[in-house]
Amino acid sequence: MISTLGVYMALQIAVCKETAVQETRVALTPDVVKSLTGKGLQVWIEKGAGVEASYTDAMYQEAGASLGDRASILGKADLLLAVQLPSMEDLKTLRKGAVTISFVWAKSNPELAAQLEALGNPVFAMDAIPRISRAQSMDALSSMSNIAGYKAVLLAAGALDKYLPMMMTAAGTVPPGKALILGAGVAGLQAIATAKRLGAKVEAFDVRPAVKEQVESLGASFVDVPLEEEDTETKGGYAKELSAKNQEIQREVLARHIAKSDIVVTTALIPGRPAPRLITREMVDGMAPGSVIVDIAAEQGGNCELTKAGETVVHNGVKVIGPVNLPGTLAFHASRLYAKNMSNLLDLLVKDGALVLDYSDEIIAESIVAGRGE
Ligand code: NAI
Repeated sequence: MISTLGVYMALQIAVCKETAVQETRVALTPDVVKSLTGKGLQVWIEKGAGVEASYTDAMYQEAGASLGDRASILGKADLLLAVQLPSMEDLKTLRKGAVTISFVWAKSNPELAAQLEALGNPVFAMDAIPRISRAQSMDALSSMSNIAGYKAVLLAAGALDKYLPMMMTAAGTVPPGKALILGAGVAGLQAIATAKRLGAKVEAFDVRPAVKEQVESLGASFVDVPLEEEDTETKGGYAKELSAKNQEIQREVLARHIAKSDIVVTTALIPGRPAPRLITREMVDGMAPGSVIVDIAAEQGGNCELTKAGETVVHNGVKVIGPVNLPGTLAFHASRLYAKNMSNLLDLLVKDGALVLDYSDEIIAESIVAGRGE
């Protein structure tokens, strides 16, 4: 079914300042605004929306956007673009039929999904874009995970009281630091690449067998965990939760590798489940003082038993860092990549200046999480 939501002389796109705590990103950046206005769309930016990501109001104006206050731009939007889902109060002020696009996480929050459905307007979730080749340019999960993997290694290196690269100096030779990356999806592979660039000796492990080759192609060695025969991967390419026996085998082997690592970056996730517990307190006890764990899965419950989201826990001299919103710490580029992902999705939703929701398109059908109106 194709639903055409009106034909406007110029579709009005609104971007407001993000209101979530620690959210520094902005949904559109001036370069993308320029391309949208070039296509005849009108873009409204709330004053100061990009400041925390180093995009000034003047840059937006130069790119062809108009500035406004929050209430007025919400009131005229046909399309509201955001990083985090705007508040219910904001969404209630939108006109009937106005489309919102942001991260939503509706699948893990049925109550929220029901509230959005009750509002009636279409809501598209950037986190629900299918992981298919055609949608790669819209895949904000990958863009943001890439940043998280990169930044996690920088955090680890910054907290470590050692060199990561090998150093040959007149005062003696320092061996390279040892990095272990657990989970080698998008974030993990970028963490491996970043740790390699910093000169560390890198090992990695993932439960999906296909990953071994990718890890080795980045110059890292793959930790051989002799798991019992088990299907560890879904058809969609995601990990499945391991059996209790295999979790035990994994912990036993990883404990030895964790004990000799200077930095451990954990990125393991299983869709729809809490983050798998890969590092126990005892394993942290086995690490040398001064070692660092950065747990990217902190916001999903953590891969390490000692992780506290948003905090650094020091346990027997080992720092366990539980970062939140790592992409937000690289707000300039995170916003730019996110804005590009959004504009690629808009290319699919906007035809000849009008919003056209063609539900026969897999990307549109899967990413709309409320207000489909059928
Ligand atoms: P994710 O963020 O859901 O999980 C991160 C990693 O943790 C995964 O590699 C997973 O196998 C691993 N993991 C889970 N349990 C573990 C455990 N007990 N021990 C060690 N590792 C564990 O995954 P992400 O990064 O979002 O990517 C998942 C898959 O999607 C990958 O196969 C990737 O190639 C694929 N993908 C496909 C895209 C496309 O075709 N457009 C785009 C992006 C990703």
